[in-house]
Amino acid sequence: MLILSEPSVFCLFLCQYLKMFLLPARASLSAGNDVLFLMSQQEIVLVEGSRVFDSWKKPPPPVYMQFYFFNMTNPKEFLAGTKPEVKQIGPYTYREYRYKDNVSMVANGKMVSAYNTKSFVFLREKSVGDPAEDNITTVNIPAWAVMNNVKDSFWKASMVSIWMNSLKSDLFTTRTVDELLWGYKDPLLVRVAGTKPEVETVFGLMYKKNGSNDGEFIYHTGEQNYMDYGRIETWKGQRELTFWRSNYSNSIVGSDGSAFHPLLDKDERIHIFTPDLCRTIYMEFEKDVEVKGIPAYRFTPPPSVLASKEENPDNEGFCVTPKECLGTGVLKVSPCRKGAPVVASFPHFYLADNKYVAAIEGLSPERTHHQTFLDLNPTTGVIVRAHKRAQVNILMQRIPGFPTTRSLNETVFPVMFLNESVEIDDASSERLKKLLLISNLVSNFPLVIVGLGVILLMVFVILLCRARKQKSSAEDDTAYSPVNDKEKEDPQNGTYIGLTPKANVEA
Ligand SMILES: *[C@@H]1O[C@H](CO)[C@@H](O)[C@H](O)[C@H]1NC(C)=O
Ligand SMILES: *[C@@H]1O[C@H](CO)[C@@H](O)[C@H](O)[C@H]1NC(C)=O
Ligand SMILES: *[C@@H]1O[C@H](CO)[C@@H](O)[C@H](O)[C@H]1NC(C)=O
Ligand SMILES: *[C@@H]1O[C@H](CO)[C@@H](O)[C@H](O)[C@H]1NC(C)=O
Ligand SMILES: *[C@@H]1O[C@H](CO)[C@@H](O)[C@H](O)[C@H]1NC(C)=O
Ligand SMILES: *[C@@H]1O[C@H](CO)[C@@H](O)[C@H](O)[C@H]1NC(C)=O
Repeated sequence: MLILSEPSVFCLFLCQYLKMFLLPARASLSAGNDVLFLMSQQEIVLVEGSRVFDSWKKPPPPVYMQFYFFNMTNPKEFLAGTKPEVKQIGPYTYREYRYKDNVSMVANGKMVSAYNTKSFVFLREKSVGDPAEDNITTVNIPAWAVMNNVKDSFWKASMVSIWMNSLKSDLFTTRTVDELLWGYKDPLLVRVAGTKPEVETVFGLMYKKNGSNDGEFIYHTGEQNYMDYGRIETWKGQRELTFWRSNYSNSIVGSDGSAFHPLLDKDERIHIFTPDLCRTIYMEFEKDVEVKGIPAYRFTPPPSVLASKEENPDNEGFCVTPKECLGTGVLKVSPCRKGAPVVASFPHFYLADNKYVAAIEGLSPERTHHQTFLDLNPTTGVIVRAHKRAQVNILMQRIPGFPTTRSLNETVFPVMFLNESVEIDDASSERLKKLLLISNLVSNFPLVIVGLGVILLMVFVILLCRARKQKSSAEDDTAYSPVNDKEKEDPQNGTYIGLTPKANVEA
């Protein structure tokens, strides 16, 4: 107490104190963002032992895959010239288990190679019916695939036409949900395989997709540059695709949709390569959202992604041939579906030309139900919620050599759409919130430390006044201790810049 009663020593102490807090505070004012940057760089990289590696290999949040079918109610009338009518049936919900298989570091540890394995387990209580029982009438996809493959040869087309008659293989078929998804032996394909043994005789929209992967991916770890975190280097050993007609269309850009770089910007375009669509798509910022208390940016594909070549000349390379160019909102993916006339779109032709919606009775596109979006935490790049929604359609049109197709106008006929959704689980969201709190503290370090300094200074002055009042009292020693206790209680204090103000106060 002798120290405090001497004015000159008191001043010395005060100066020391102010220097202690204000100098580092000023220094970190400029360094605040860099600290955050360094921190995220160390934590968000795809190497063994980093914060994100395990959850990247085996993501903890549950993923649900829901299928909705369009049950065709007037196939006979349609073939006679009436507008087709469909009724949406669903959801048939599956829990999707994802993990990365055979993860190994390649290129001297600069990149990581992995296979994305997915498997699906049916959830009866989240579904409308039993997929083994429910019958859906829809386009006979194998027949359309075969017809398209033989249309250039009169002789082959005639033969297939005869087979279709004898097998009663029509333009539409009725199958159970299980058959349509997981596969059934198609009599026409069996007949075709008799002459071309390489033809697969089983058809299903998800055939061989249970417990399998879509080829080897090599990703950047993000260790050298955080902007490269999760970026695809090659897919199946290729740096770009070969399906399309331009370099732009064939490019593999961005990530696979499971990892995004930290420190996201509202102005940036996020690129995602999707093997299902056989192309790279992009998303743009739509709005700020909050999921389980975590702030997020919502990114969604803008209409330009699937715009026609007239509206977006970049998309010209996606026309299989210049003659076979479809309109806005649909993408013919036949080059990567062995020539089958498969067309991808958003559900109910959301964001597509109204002519596609108007051609089918029973469709009503809505943003809330049919939009694809990703909610990403901008600081860490972590996915907090996502809905991937896509529709499978078949292009029906007149095919020379097949009299049954004679009266058909070109129609993009909807078969099924899916909604693959994920939301961050509670344990991960708690951990993410803590991480955000820390990085928030670190990036606001100057303010925190100045604030803390002001509070401590006030406490100090109050205590000093009390100490002066009781100058001669022996209790003075204890009057000082609450300051020390308070500092000890605050674990954040100085942890990140290695400040130890307590030691100096005592000195
Ligand atoms: C689909 O429509 C057909 C007749 O149009 C009907 O018999 C069948 O029950 C429908 N399927 C489902 C799953 O409702
Ligand atoms: C085919 O399209 C034309 C012009 O769009 C239309 O007039 C005609 O009714 C359509 N025919 C059928 C069978 O849908
Ligand atoms: C993973 O590696 C094992 C052993 O090398 C191999 O048998 C298996 O096929 C690989 N898995 C994939 C998905 O390639
Ligand atoms: C997928 O495979 C898993 C096991 O490998 C099985 O339990 C599940 O029923 C399969 N799902 C379907 C839809 O066949
Ligand atoms: C679906 O069709 C099969 C074969 O025609 C029939 O046995 C089954 O009862 C039908 N299922 C329903 C739910 O109607
Ligand atoms: C997926 O999308 C469908 C169609 O819009 C919607 O009805 C369903 O509730 C969505 N599923 C989840 C889990 O949000």
